[in-house]
Amino acid sequence: MGGASVCRMVVTMLAMFMLSSTVSADPEMLQDICVADLTSAVKVNGFTCKSNVTADDFFFAGLAKPALTNTTTGAAVTGANVQRIPGLNTLGVSLGRIDYAPGGLNPPHTHPRATEVVFVLEGELDVGFITTANILYSKTIKKGEVFVFPKGLVHFQKNNGKSNAAVVAAFNSQLPGTQSIAATLFAAAPPVPDNVLTTAFQVGTKEVQKIKSKFAPKK
Ligand SMILES: *[C@@H]1O[C@H](CO)[C@@H](O)[C@H](O)[C@H]1NC(C)=O
Ligand SMILES: *[C@@H]1O[C@H](CO)[C@@H](O)[C@H](O)[C@H]1NC(C)=O
Repeated sequence: MGGASVCRMVVTMLAMFMLSSTVSADPEMLQDICVADLTSAVKVNGFTCKSNVTADDFFFAGLAKPALTNTTTGAAVTGANVQRIPGLNTLGVSLGRIDYAPGGLNPPHTHPRATEVVFVLEGELDVGFITTANILYSKTIKKGEVFVFPKGLVHFQKNNGKSNAAVVAAFNSQLPGTQSIAATLFAAAPPVPDNVLTTAFQVGTKEVQKIKSKFAPKK
């Protein structure tokens, strides 16, 4: 092969790789349905398929009503993912509902496996995400409006309004996963060493221990 054709081949392969790695989140499915057997001890990339399938495997009523928002941050997330709807296994999508009391915050977090699109059911929210270049994209969104949080990027929603707010969130993963930044760093078990956090945040051990104590299980 000449230098030019090798070069063309490499470019083609790179293009194919980039396409295949950017067009979807969860992998393509290989059959009509593969309803999760959540009880199976066999672990695969996803869940094994069960055989005794019913319509209820594709059903969930848990987003119909607001969740209680008397949480530490004044917001409550209800997932409608493969753990609640076994029929979502291998389908690459899921939903959630988030309810916010006035002042409520869904604290900064990421979804390692999905882009999120929120649709405001009621109220008004200040939302934002931060890119890897450390740019904050933020906006106030209200009933009927939509906002996108790109896959993997840190994002948050805050209800600065006087009434309750709620969104439906859609994900391109059957199980997007959530890593809440504060809890990840200050409530891990076993704990992240204090000297990692003092240097990372440029504060003293006392400050780090104070934040850790806020996340300690209530006795
Ligand atoms: C359906 O299959 C699952 C796993 O194979 C089992 O745990 C469950 O008891 C079965 N349910 C019925 C109603 O047979
Ligand atoms: C939230 O409110 C409900 C109902 O009013 C109550 O049962 C529950 O204990 C409260 N939870 C907390 C964490 O305060």
